[in-house]
Amino acid sequence: MELTQYSERKNFFLRSQPWCVDRLEIDDSQVVLSGWAVPCDGVWESLEFFVNDQAVEFSCKLDRSDLLQVFPFWEGSGQIGFRISIERKDIHGAGETVVVSRHCNSSSSKYGNYYFPMSRDLYENLPPARLRSQVHGSDDASSFVLEGFSSYKKIDFLFKEHLGDGHQKVLPVLDWGCGCARVCRYMLEENEGLHGVDVNGEAIDWCLANLSPRFEVSQHKPPLPYPDDYFQAVYGVSILTHLSLEDQADWMAELLRVTRTNGIVILSYHGSSSLLRFNLSGEDFEDLQQHGYVNLGKNHAFGKDSEVGAKYFDTVQLPSSFQRIVEGWPVDLSFHEGVFGNHQDVVVLTKK
Ligand SMILES: C[S@@+](CC[C@H](N)C(=O)[O-])C[C@H]1O[C@@H](n2cnc3c(N)ncnc32)[C@H](O)[C@@H]1O
Repeated sequence: MELTQYSERKNFFLRSQPWCVDRLEIDDSQVVLSGWAVPCDGVWESLEFFVNDQAVEFSCKLDRSDLLQVFPFWEGSGQIGFRISIERKDIHGAGETVVVSRHCNSSSSKYGNYYFPMSRDLYENLPPARLRSQVHGSDDASSFVLEGFSSYKKIDFLFKEHLGDGHQKVLPVLDWGCGCARVCRYMLEENEGLHGVDVNGEAIDWCLANLSPRFEVSQHKPPLPYPDDYFQAVYGVSILTHLSLEDQADWMAELLRVTRTNGIVILSYHGSSSLLRFNLSGEDFEDLQQHGYVNLGKNHAFGKDSEVGAKYFDTVQLPSSFQRIVEGWPVDLSFHEGVFGNHQDVVVLTKK
């Protein structure tokens, strides 16, 4: 992590050039993408966007006063909105998937791009707004697809990088904490060995009724209903981000139990790339440096009184917290920065 002094956060922010597409509008003739972007060192002239590796025109420095609350340490953050509007016919090489990148060679930044499908079918049969909001923070249907599809693509890249095969050939796979299948819905047709579990019975009921019989409700504590050494890969997008350190350790041991030797467990967490989105107090930041993990308190996405909500927090951590948890376990760790939502970091555990 580059950020050593909390007072450096503005410079860290400008240097790391975070960006986010938080709205996608797509119809028969046009695609409009909007979000926010911090240009390199705050120099707007350097900002560029590419759609399928072609430079595109865009408007920038648009009002995003909502962001002043998120990034209060930089007064410029209220004016970092951007908008790309492009005719469908002008999207070169648009097959099934469109990639939006800040680099002319999008494969060099594969974990930091956005991806969305062109097929209209993939914007249909979505879960109801209430279930979408619980996992996505907004009920906007197109951005639910954009974020879920981007995460699915990145899981596929991680499979290829760590197992040598894409998702069609990695069998069986478990989506741990799948919610209403925002991510795994794109794998279901091509992977007959894909299973999903979640503690949220309402989300699992929707998946069972609308997607596949391979979904199950799990409990807040291990075990999972699968034998030892069963899965080739397990992934959990945005689950550790909500768990106490004790629950994280229990679940990592359990996920490794159900994973076979040389298989992998991919888990996202709020790490250095997410730090500034939580605007940690100086005290929390000190705590993080010292202990490698901070619990920032309850997250209310599931309501204060729900069963899921009772053990659902916002957490931030450093790689050292994982190294401590797995000390002495037969496992190798590797890390990727800024993957899901372009800010959640990822730890990959390979079972030895
Ligand atoms: C932010 S949502 C992410 C859902 C899904 N992975 C996605 O990316 O859309 C977090 C999910 O974790 C689930 N969850 C929380 N604790 C869990 C646990 N101990 N085991 C399984 N799922 C859990 C919640 O019910 C919720 O669906």
